[in-house]
Amino acid sequence: MTTTPSIAEQVAQYRWYHRIDLGDGVFTEPPPLIMESIASIWDFIRAELDQQDLKDARVLDIGCRDALWSLYAEQHGAKEVIGIDNGLSTAARDVVLPHLKSQVQMHEMNVNDLTPETFGPFDVVLFLGVLYHLRYPFWSLQRIVDVMEPGGRLMIESGMLATEAWEDETLLFCPTDESPYEFTSCTFFNRKGLVTTLESMGLECLHAASMEWSQTTPAPSGARVERQFLVFRKVAEGPPIDAVNTYWRGVHGALDIHSCVRKAMEERKSDS
Ligand SMILES: C[S@@+](CC[C@H](N)C(=O)[O-])C[C@H]1O[C@@H](n2cnc3c(N)ncnc32)[C@H](O)[C@@H]1O
Repeated sequence: MTTTPSIAEQVAQYRWYHRIDLGDGVFTEPPPLIMESIASIWDFIRAELDQQDLKDARVLDIGCRDALWSLYAEQHGAKEVIGIDNGLSTAARDVVLPHLKSQVQMHEMNVNDLTPETFGPFDVVLFLGVLYHLRYPFWSLQRIVDVMEPGGRLMIESGMLATEAWEDETLLFCPTDESPYEFTSCTFFNRKGLVTTLESMGLECLHAASMEWSQTTPAPSGARVERQFLVFRKVAEGPPIDAVNTYWRGVHGALDIHSCVRKAMEERKSDS
């Protein structure tokens, strides 16, 4: 006679990234190296998310891994939660979600393949621990903005360039073989660079916090990285200069971009 394996036995068959409480003393257990390096970042994220209202929100969790933050959103009142990851944790989908009787939906998908038609618009997008892994970050950010409701919020947690002497510049530090983390970590905006980029896509920054003791030793260039958590809101009016946005998206066609931009700049000057 075969017996159904207990939840502890099922969990033991998989490799985990997140530590998730499954009740009765059972947890998904990540390897010690992950716990040592990342558990304090989860505390930082949790403390930041605790300040955000997720009640009745439609939430998209991009790079959801084992669904720790998708479950957090569900437990904090989100009305619907969709998690996507291009390396989907089938263990979370097949073991954790059913065991917790969760309604979270998980899909294997690359952020760069998101369209407004895929899942519809979201009130809240969680983009935690993913931005610094992207090689094509501007396009990914535009994809995200495109799936946000007007007034919707984007919550980003990322490794960020945090060298004080450069804080007034709009910078992207993009190392490859000399990443302060490891090879897959190749995109570190500084705060001004990220805020300016997202403003150009129609968002405004509502909040930014640093996990200062997460700072790396500066590279010979002086580049220093730390974890930050930022919250943005999509402002209904969209990007400041429509014609430039058309050009950046590569859909300007025969539009006389220079006269459009000149006109917009003159209008701006006369407004200020
Ligand atoms: C460092 S983990 C962060 C997991 C979780 N968001 C957190 O903060 O604890 C990064 C996750 O993002 C996923 N990821 C990386 N690039 C992605 C992409 N282009 N599209 C979707 N997911 C991606 C990875 O597969 C991985 O599961």
